[in-house]
Amino acid sequence: MFAGPFSESILKRALENQLIQIALHDIRAYTTDRHHVCDGTPYGGGGGMVMKAEPIARAVETVLAHPAGWTLPPQAAFVDLPPWNENAPAVLAADVPVILLTPQGRRFDQSVALELSQHSRLALICGRYEGVDERVRSQLVSDEISIGDFVLSGGELAAMVVVDAVTRLLPGALGDALGAHQDSHSAGTDGLLEGPHYTRPHNFRGEAVPDVLLSGHHAQVARWRREQSLLRTLERRPELLAVAAEKLSKADRDFLSAHGWGSAQEQ
Ligand code: ADE
Repeated sequence: MFAGPFSESILKRALENQLIQIALHDIRAYTTDRHHVCDGTPYGGGGGMVMKAEPIARAVETVLAHPAGWTLPPQAAFVDLPPWNENAPAVLAADVPVILLTPQGRRFDQSVALELSQHSRLALICGRYEGVDERVRSQLVSDEISIGDFVLSGGELAAMVVVDAVTRLLPGALGDALGAHQDSHSAGTDGLLEGPHYTRPHNFRGEAVPDVLLSGHHAQVARWRREQSLLRTLERRPELLAVAAEKLSKADRDFLSAHGWGSAQEQ
């Protein structure tokens, strides 16, 4: 499931350049019973299955007791590993967030990505089925993240989203050093959406590239881009302007007012 996204483009390059390491761990390999059972029926009845606490605890505590990048050798059974204390939680490093991906978590956005990018190591737990045993939350997890108000079949896609968004923030991950800085939602654009981009041909099906972009006048290009960014944010995500308000210049505010900002908000 992870092979595609991790073997393309930015992530592929970041892995090749050892800017990041990603180790995948199959929770099933951390079961000790013959049938490698990872889930059980819920106490109190009801439908669905609940992921068991022990295999997840064994996986997370064993992995974090090893250096980053370590994985269980192929075919190895968990029982082959050094003793694991069934009855007491391992002391986990305080600076390694143990993150459960769940629709109940705090909403992932660019500022959370930036926050996570400051850590040298992250543990991401992908839940499946109806949920995970609550003791995973109470004993193991330090953070819970949702990538949006919708329900995925499991945390894997959400984990890949987090890995991608965090990796591209690492210095050297993008070819263009300014790239991530100017993305929509980043601090570099003051929390505004990016404006339109154009490349050749000059005329596509009767629609020409705006003249200002061909003018060679850097200040005018910069002003035009700023205004397009403001306009796009006003049209699509006006609530972002309130957040960005303190970063807006007088010229920005006048431009927005002339395009109906303020009047709409007051209604
Ligand atoms: N697992 C299922 N849905 C999810 C979501 N929206 N975010 C993170 N993890 C999830």
